[in-house]
Amino acid sequence: MENKKILVLNGPNLNLLGKREPGIYGNDSMESAFAALQERFPQVQLDYYQSNVEGELINKLHEVGFTYDGVVFNAGAYTHTSVAIHDAINAINTPVVEVHISNVYQRETYRHTSLITGACVGVIGGFGMDSYRLAIEALQAL
Ligand code: DQA
Repeated sequence: MENKKILVLNGPNLNLLGKREPGIYGNDSMESAFAALQERFPQVQLDYYQSNVEGELINKLHEVGFTYDGVVFNAGAYTHTSVAIHDAINAINTPVVEVHISNVYQRETYRHTSLITGACVGVIGGFGMDSYRLAIEALQAL
């Protein structure tokens, strides 16, 4: 059997993990967190893509959305604003898990609304960088 293919997809400002508001997002860079995920899931073909540009995230969803087995998606602030990303997730076949590092419900009220949850298979948030691991496990269990 072929290895499962899962994309870890990060949206705006998540390229600065490790430097960005460490009190909220921790000290780990995404590079080291992604390397740890690859080590933890050697049986999964894990790919990584990050963009600060909404349309590039949508293009990536279109690119992988008919061949990959899952997408672990932290859409960052676009979570709270983007109908276009909601529509892109609905347009593809690949299941998408919404991920947040922080517990958005303990934060500003404008973070309590997600425009993408309704298009995703589920949501994991509040577990720091471990949220990504939990999302991969959830996808494997589908
Ligand atoms: C985030 C939460 C969002 O509200 C915020 O805009 C982010 C990161 C998280 O991972 O906790 O950029 O998605």
